[in-house]
Amino acid sequence: MNKIFKTTLLILTIVFMNNIQGQEAKILVLIHSDNGGTYTLAQEVAKGIESKGNAKAFIKKVKPSDNPSLKNVPLATVEELTSYNGIAFGSPVYFGNISTPMSEFFSKTVDLWSKHALEGMPATVFMSAGSGAGKELAIQSFWNTLAVHGMVLVSNGIMGNDTIDKTVPQGNTVLGVTSLASLNNIKRPTKSERHLAKLQGENFANVANALKGTFPTHKKSIEKKEEVDINTVLKEKQIKLPEVPKPAGSYQPYVRSGNLIFINQVALKDGKIVHPGKLGQDINEEQVNEATTATILNVLSVLQDAVGGDLNKVKKCVQLTGIFNTKDDFTKHADLMNVASNLMVDIFGEKGKHARATYGASSIPVNSSVEIQAIFEVE
Ligand SMILES: Cc1cc2nc3c(=O)[nH]c(=O)nc-3n(C[C@H](O)[C@H](O)[C@H](O)COP(=O)(O)O)c2cc1C
Repeated sequence: MNKIFKTTLLILTIVFMNNIQGQEAKILVLIHSDNGGTYTLAQEVAKGIESKGNAKAFIKKVKPSDNPSLKNVPLATVEELTSYNGIAFGSPVYFGNISTPMSEFFSKTVDLWSKHALEGMPATVFMSAGSGAGKELAIQSFWNTLAVHGMVLVSNGIMGNDTIDKTVPQGNTVLGVTSLASLNNIKRPTKSERHLAKLQGENFANVANALKGTFPTHKKSIEKKEEVDINTVLKEKQIKLPEVPKPAGSYQPYVRSGNLIFINQVALKDGKIVHPGKLGQDINEEQVNEATTATILNVLSVLQDAVGGDLNKVKKCVQLTGIFNTKDDFTKHADLMNVASNLMVDIFGEKGKHARATYGASSIPVNSSVEIQAIFEVE
């Protein structure tokens, strides 16, 4: 009985210790590949990562691919990078450099960089080259980006070189493995290149495991900004945008200059001006408010047209200028304009907050009581 108890306790202790130590390192193998060479290397790297049973590899790609062999490789997001214990990067060599799609992916990591989110995380690089021209330079330029992120760069040295077939050129480099894909008198990546890729993965898993917990991976994950869908907001607020008003003169409904959209509108609705005239003479304040609502909705309708129908592309309402047909002694232009400003913030939230100017005018085109000029920043 005592023996059974001791054996059970021993088994439980082993299971417990395995659970403590056995939390596998999660390693992302992040690739771009045109012809599949990098992907083949990635599969070997992944095998190496998982060879000791202490790490799990996740192969993902940075952009969609038409290559059937890459069809089932999932797409990675920038936000998920911080959730791993290490990242093995792979791409083709483009002119002795990192490939363009991989570079584009990195251009989206500025937020991670400014938050120090990848600092201390191990990284390694493997690449598929053609002739091999500039292959080591290419890995080095890849390393530049990773160094700026503060990642721990894991090299290969001369690991495995004594076991490779030296009768043909091989893609071994001290920084990381490559493949010489255009030297196709032999299937590429060669057996030796694949062997080196596996060793690179195995070594990388060891480093990732050793560094596991030394940098705050998950804690630093980037909070995804709460993205509000503007179409849903409009629906919820039962705001229906009017048809885009046609220009009444020799001008454009909007002009885009860089990322800025410029729009000017009056209180035109269904071909007629809403409550035309001068405040305090022809119409009252409530009527001007209605005219202002009609005007700002026209602005939004033109804006929607300017961003191809998707108001989610609006990054900021930069400035609104409200011009009201008022008597000379009128001073409460700000109150009148609040109708437009409040609606802007109601719809766009923070993005809707803007700089503002208001004026009184003795007359406004087509006898509108209000004209609004608007500037938006868009994607
Ligand atoms: C724009 C471009 C530039 C390239 N520059 C190089 C280069 O400088 N050196 C090289 O050896 N191969 C170069 N290549 C060839 C690719 O690196 C090679 O085809 C690689 O194996 C592609 O990897 P993949 O099979 O994963 O798509 C270039 C290819 C392209 C499309």
